[in-house]
Amino acid sequence: MDAPFEANSGFEHSCDDVLDTPAHLSVEREVIGANVGANGYTTLDQAGELGRLVHLQREDRLLDIGAGRGWPGLYLAEQSGCEATLLEISDSDLRQSLGRAERTNITARCSFVRGTATALPFRSKSFDVLIHADVL
Ligand SMILES: C[S@@+](CC[C@H](N)C(=O)[O-])C[C@H]1O[C@@H](n2cnc3c(N)ncnc32)[C@H](O)[C@@H]1O
Repeated sequence: MDAPFEANSGFEHSCDDVLDTPAHLSVEREVIGANVGANGYTTLDQAGELGRLVHLQREDRLLDIGAGRGWPGLYLAEQSGCEATLLEISDSDLRQSLGRAERTNITARCSFVRGTATALPFRSKSFDVLIHADVL
């Protein structure tokens, strides 16, 4: 696995302190369909549909741009068995996605890259499937 990320990009979310509060978790269950670690609006059903639409297979290399806390990229990797690279500009989100991958025991096939979608730090043809959820 690549080095997870460098510390202190200086970009942090102002909503970090409300995530995982009882109120947030309750709203997430009602709106998203489960507690999945979302900080966007992709529902559980939509994430499943996304995986089916891109025909994600075990042998695929998935890139999730603006991966947040690993939703839905890590979820799709968990479901399909594929390799996943999470690109995220926020250090705190990357740390949380690394923690999620550790908890679900998939770090060996995941990479965590701090960077920006405007200058992707990858060679061409590095990935088979690219997703981004709620990233403008
Ligand atoms: C609304 S959140 C969605 C996160 C996740 N995809 C989800 O659905 O839960 C948007 C994410 O994009 C990240 N982001 C914003 N601008 C970015 C950029 N230029 N490059 C990489 N990530 C970026 C933010 O840090 C944030 O985690």
